Amino acid sequence: MKETSPRQAPPEEVLRQALRALEAAAGPTVLLDAQGRVLALGAEARALLGEPLSSGQRFREGFACTEEELRTLLRSQREAIFALGSAQGRGKPRSLRVRATTLTEGNRSVGHAVHLAPCHVDPNTREELFHGLWTQDLRMRRLFRIIEKAARTEASVLVRGESGTGKELVANALHALSARARGPFRAINCAALSPSLLESELFGHVRGAFTGAVRDSPGHFRLAQGGTLFLDEVAELPLELQAKLLRVLETRTVIPVGGREPVSVDVRIVAATHRALRREVELGHFRADLMYRLRVVPIFLPALRERPGDILPLAERFLTELNARGGRQVLRLSARARRQLQEYAWPGNVRELRNVMEYAHVMGEGPALTEAELPPEFNEQARPVRLPLAPESASAAPAEPGDIGPEDIRRALEQTRGNRARAASLLGISRVTLWRRLREAEGAKGR
Ligand SMILES: Nc1ncnc2c1ncn2[C@@H]1O[C@H](COP(=O)(O)OP(=O)(O)OP(=O)(O)O)[C@@H](O)[C@H]1O
Ligand SMILES: [Mg+2]
Repeated sequence: MKETSPRQAPPEEVLRQALRALEAAAGPTVLLDAQGRVLALGAEARALLGEPLSSGQRFREGFACTEEELRTLLRSQREAIFALGSAQGRGKPRSLRVRATTLTEGNRSVGHAVHLAPCHVDPNTREELFHGLWTQDLRMRRLFRIIEKAARTEASVLVRGESGTGKELVANALHALSARARGPFRAINCAALSPSLLESELFGHVRGAFTGAVRDSPGHFRLAQGGTLFLDEVAELPLELQAKLLRVLETRTVIPVGGREPVSVDVRIVAATHRALRREVELGHFRADLMYRLRVVPIFLPALRERPGDILPLAERFLTELNARGGRQVLRLSARARRQLQEYAWPGNVRELRNVMEYAHVMGEGPALTEAELPPEFNEQARPVRLPLAPESASAAPAEPGDIGPEDIRRALEQTRGNRARAASLLGISRVTLWRRLREAEGAKGR
């Protein structure tokens, strides 16, 4: 480290000790002056960053963030995810979870302590946030490019995917990126209404068309005039309404229930279903001509279990959002919680993942989110013999060392750049156990 002039306070030794104490409490830490320049890096921060920052440098030079993003981070004291700048040329771009505390003298800000934590993003792929859809999966990112192209046309798009995979977000993106963005976006769920109600909701009705029709109603087609109509769960549309819908799409006019005069409509259709429409056609449940009319551009959203690389980063993003609400601040996921999240089948996909993280965030306490805090379905599948931990002791309880394998230890050491104390705390085991495990692994290799 460079010599500082003798007049300058604080002396380096004091700073080093303060940083050591800070890191013991809060993990890898960088101290910044009030202008956002690096004052000092703790040993753990240095290890985590691979020394891409040195004192005197601006913090921002090490990260691919804008001045505005940095200001928000320092001002809000909320957690954010920053990509490490590749300008340093050290390895591949990675992401870190960052959070700042302001250091004050009286009521004047004299600088900031920035705490860093590894973010589990696969360094071999690039992440992307697209209209609320986050992914690091290459197939998903290819879909985003298709969505962008399709949005610029008037072609009907059919989105297929399991529950909670983001079909509605795709429909929103298609609208927002289209020339119709200033027009209305209307969504209607074809599974939620009885056939007669659905018909009048879609096409409208005239006064007196049926009991209770006390006045004219425009219906979704006319309400979406100049914009986009999202037909959710379109496979559930009854056959007689399929015929009417096809007529509307071909003539670009609707006839309201009980009415005679066709009214012209200018609407772009986006439809979604969790079913294979082709199969529905084979079964005689869906009209082939309507299927072809709707699926000019088919978009198939993969289930979460088919893109397992997205599970942990999404879990961390949801944790970041939950931390930002205040209250509990979760800084890490225990190794076993991570494994359980990764092995789970996620029938409810991303929506279920978000709900699971919210449940665990609310039910547990402390900075580490452990497997015992996950909803019951996780603990049932994982441990048939062992009794579940009592909820009060859950967050304080160390992980079962028996469940942590050499692969977990290798990854933890990689993440902490060989820092055994941090690796042990990341895994939720004691340093002694970590040390014993390492020795066992060595012994196994020697045999
Ligand atoms: N890739 C993603 N990144 C971030 N959040 C996502 C992603 N995919 C889905 N979500 C979240 O999951 C929720 C469900 O998404 P959406 O309503 O679009 O799913 P859906 O496919 O329409 O589900 P359903 O079939 O049950 O109606 C969204 O509110 C969003 O918070
Ligand atoms: Mg939906």
